[in-house]
Amino acid sequence: MMEQPQINRRYFLEAEQIASRLPAFFERRNLKSLFTNLFLFQDLGMTILIAVLDTVRIGDHSQYIQDDLIHQLKTDLGGRPVYLSNSTGIRYVILLSALPKLPRSIELPRDIPNGMVSLGMRFDGQLINMPWSKLGHLLIVGMTGSGKSSLLRSIALQAIRNGIQLALADIDQTTFAMLEGHPLLFGSIATSPQEALDLIRKALGECDHRAAMYKSMPDYPENIDEYNTLAVKAGKEPLTRIIVMLDESSSVLKAMGGGSGELAGKLAELGWRGRKFGIHFIFGAQEFTKDLVGAVREQVNMAIAFRVKPTSAQMAKAIGCTNAHRIPANRPGFAIIDRFGPMQSYFVPKTLLIGSGSIIHEALTELERNLFLRAIESSQGRLSQSRIIEWGQTSQIQARKLQESWALRGWLSKDGRKDNSFSLTAKARDLLTNRQTQQTPTNRHEPPPTDRQTVQTDRQTTFNRPLTA
Ligand SMILES: Nc1ncnc2c1ncn2[C@@H]1O[C@H](COP(=O)(O)OP(=O)(O)OP(=O)(O)O)[C@@H](O)[C@H]1O
Ligand SMILES: [Mg+2]
Repeated sequence: MMEQPQINRRYFLEAEQIASRLPAFFERRNLKSLFTNLFLFQDLGMTILIAVLDTVRIGDHSQYIQDDLIHQLKTDLGGRPVYLSNSTGIRYVILLSALPKLPRSIELPRDIPNGMVSLGMRFDGQLINMPWSKLGHLLIVGMTGSGKSSLLRSIALQAIRNGIQLALADIDQTTFAMLEGHPLLFGSIATSPQEALDLIRKALGECDHRAAMYKSMPDYPENIDEYNTLAVKAGKEPLTRIIVMLDESSSVLKAMGGGSGELAGKLAELGWRGRKFGIHFIFGAQEFTKDLVGAVREQVNMAIAFRVKPTSAQMAKAIGCTNAHRIPANRPGFAIIDRFGPMQSYFVPKTLLIGSGSIIHEALTELERNLFLRAIESSQGRLSQSRIIEWGQTSQIQARKLQESWALRGWLSKDGRKDNSFSLTAKARDLLTNRQTQQTPTNRHEPPPTDRQTVQTDRQTTFNRPLTA
């Protein structure tokens, strides 16, 4: 066992006790108790024991990652929280100390890296950040007043900051009303079930359009990032992701014939087709049963449950969010996320989205603004790597990366007339002029000081099995 002087002796004794119980626990189930490592560490005020299975010697892994086994292990260890991590190898993560308390309200940080979306704070204080591509199709369930709309707004706001398009359905007109007319809307906000269906049809039409564009590329792109890299190389405009958000979708679906109705059918189709074309859907609902949503269910790849009714405990468990019915009524914003366990989502009041039409303009950093202005003033908008190095005092590698990322965001395009030089697009020029003429929104929040670590999905501990129908 790895020694760390600051760990309380009590935890060493507990860890040793647990280690001595493991062989009998596994042997009783006819499983091998073979571990390559057991280590104890302390992080963010928690003391954790990690038992790493020897996956080479145990043979078939399937029995070792069953929910039931984890549950029994937890019971065997006196109810201590036990999580499974099977992203790389198989580890049992056993929490020895108490869970730290999550704050009751957290603001959306303003320093989420571009290209990433943040869903909230995990129980260990880490932020749940992931690239947009990893968001896939997301389900958000919870009873009334539990925090669904606030989470939808926090994702919408981050999408806007990233220049991502939004397709919104908001029947009660309480969640997104302030975004009507926003330049990043993919269509006007749907406020009736029929309009929601039309919006989904329009998104499917966009899939057809994008399919044709993918086909025109020589290298058969398989996702939007691949397409955009090729498009930029070929001097074409990159595509933006589209997030389709349906708030109150249980009532919309009910009105449209439930799981066997046309809306559910089209949504499921959007689910399997949209992925490839950078079109994601997010589904906010009070209930999520097969009757209601039909084949949409198989398309969801991440689930978040806020407080649900006791009668929905089984539904929450089925989507990988066990115990969501135990969340107290006075904790709106607290949720269980299938991959990460308990989390507190960001509180985004409606007022924060008002005037977000100008938020996208903040996407330009000081360096970008200076370089773009200078390019307009002295080189007719052309911005080569050598100019970036000279004017921005960057290294060659930085200059190349900057140029690539601006091209991907549609701010630079290859100048047909000139060998390999990139020029500012109309989009980049718009950003510059808007910045100069528009008032900075007054309802801005400054980021809280942060030295938190963030969690990213690809390297992340898996706390539950992935959602299966
Ligand atoms: N992340 C959060 N942190 C703190 N408080 C929150 C959070 N989210 C929501 N709340 C509080 O809970 C109230 C209800 O939230 P919200 O409107 O998002 O719920 P909802 O699940 O969409 O409910 P409904 O189904 O009735 O639309 C908010 O007005 C706010 O006071
Ligand atoms: Mg709501």
